[in-house]
Amino acid sequence: MSVSDLHDAVLDWYAEAQRDLPWRRPDCSPWGVFVSEVMLQQTPVVRVLPVWEEWMARWPTPADLAGVASGEAVRAWGRLGYPRRALRLHAAATAMVERHDGEVPSNLVDLQALPGVGTYTAAAVAAFAFGIRVPVVDTNVRRVHARAVTGVEHPAPSLTRAESDLAASLLPDSESEARLWNVGVMELGALVCTARGPRCDDCPLLGRCAWVLAGRPAYD
Ligand code: ADE
Repeated sequence: MSVSDLHDAVLDWYAEAQRDLPWRRPDCSPWGVFVSEVMLQQTPVVRVLPVWEEWMARWPTPADLAGVASGEAVRAWGRLGYPRRALRLHAAATAMVERHDGEVPSNLVDLQALPGVGTYTAAAVAAFAFGIRVPVVDTNVRRVHARAVTGVEHPAPSLTRAESDLAASLLPDSESEARLWNVGVMELGALVCTARGPRCDDCPLLGRCAWVLAGRPAYD
């Protein structure tokens, strides 16, 4: 199957199956995307939703968050877990005020220079908030690539160079398709190509998935 068939299959599926999440709507600010990506890193969508809504109502801009004590951010974090992420968000908001006129920076280099922002968050914000053509590779995406392209059930414990190269080679050429591809593959991994009990019958890549074609060999 050609890479462009792969794109079409995932983009068509995403158009039908995507969840309507507030940080994916066109009117969501870059700050809203930034907050969502930090919250979603270690916490499922259903638990993030109410906390994200409250957070954005209370601190709709980086300056609003930077203007309160960091302890307030930790309290508002509630039960999302890993509360150090609240402190990192507060520190990032402060840096946005100090270095970027209170705006979320719109390029990878400045995003990655923010306190507590790693490769994943920088790429996700660049792609989803600013439409930059960059691969966004989280655990769900790595699993889809491992199965559909490489033919193994699970990816390696941590991101390898080969996986990064593969992700870059799969990215569509146009910015708009690249954005949809990034979020579409992520959604496929979250909803269908799950770690355990994948719903292959509902998968747009069934019939072309390297892992299924290999007889679904178990991971060892
Ligand atoms: N949409 C955009 N980024 C997301 C993420 N990290 N998890 C789930 N949905 C998303």
